Amino acid sequence: MRLKGKVAIVTGAGTGIGEAIAHKFSREGARVFLAGLPSDPVQDVAAAVTTNGGDAEAFLGDLSEEDQARKCVEAAARRFGHINVLVNNAGIFIANAETDAYRVEDFDRTIRANIRAAFLMTKFAIPHLHKTRGNILFTGSEAGFNGSANMTPYGASKSFLHAFAKGVALEQAKYGVRANCVCPGAVDTAWTRGPGGPLSAEVQNTIDGMVPLGRRGTPEEMANIFAFLASDEASYITGALLLADGGVTPAKGPMGEFVPDELRRPPAGSLPLRHSHDGLHGKEVFNAK
Ligand SMILES: NC(=O)c1ccc[n+]([C@@H]2O[C@H](COP(=O)([O-])OP(=O)(O)OC[C@H]3O[C@@H](n4cnc5c(N)ncnc54)[C@H](O)[C@@H]3O)[C@@H](O)[C@H]2O)c1
Repeated sequence: MRLKGKVAIVTGAGTGIGEAIAHKFSREGARVFLAGLPSDPVQDVAAAVTTNGGDAEAFLGDLSEEDQARKCVEAAARRFGHINVLVNNAGIFIANAETDAYRVEDFDRTIRANIRAAFLMTKFAIPHLHKTRGNILFTGSEAGFNGSANMTPYGASKSFLHAFAKGVALEQAKYGVRANCVCPGAVDTAWTRGPGGPLSAEVQNTIDGMVPLGRRGTPEEMANIFAFLASDEASYITGALLLADGGVTPAKGPMGEFVPDELRRPPAGSLPLRHSHDGLHGKEVFNAK
């Protein structure tokens, strides 16, 4: 029960990594305020958390809108009395096109969802976190270190979060507030597997071979990292970018192809996840090819 007595806001909590963070935090004793777009199954995740003995509330809204972000933070504080942790996990990956073909509207959508929402939520949560000496977590990306071809604004939006997390950590340390960033590589969500996403089936099939550990990460493996960083066990960690990419950043060539099948199996996991691959439902995805 690493998070016993804590209250956490989790954004993008209806699907993928956010759903896993919701369940993991609840299992570790946190009461969770779960936010996502109106088309996301956030209420379903909140109901599942409650069914499993936790305490959860759903909030539906576009967090890149100033009034929605403010309302979300205020509603969380009202519902649970205080806020200890903000997890800025919401994001979109909705286009696959070389930069000259990348649509301006997709650039704007990416900046709003990936950057503006995290800025607004952080801005409005900080006064509450001062009271609890709480902490803020961001979901960055391996792409924020390395850049990514055919999705150049996406990688750059994650670089913003990396630097923003460090800046917030430096600035807020004097108030006892920590800030850290988890930077996943390919995780098994709608973004890297299944139809309707920005990556073609051909590219999806090459992912595991590119990763030295020979497979995508699971949402639950990511949630485990967030739970540790959010907890008092991480009390001396602030301004950290924690890369969780199966080794892909330093890799040279398709190293995953040398991993034997038995080592490619992901851990079974124990969270009751139902929406790992639902994150792109209701979103327009642009593929230039
Ligand atoms: N899946 C990967 O391979 C991968 C790799 C690196 C980083 N990440 C990061 O992990 C996070 C979660 O991604 P995921 O793979 O679980 O995808 P996902 O699509 O399942 O989850 C993202 C969630 O955020 C929600 N969201 C988007 N914009 C929002 C807004 N304006 N307001 C409220 N909610 C909003 C989406 O609707 C969705 O439910 C993202 O920040 C992403 O950049 C994912």
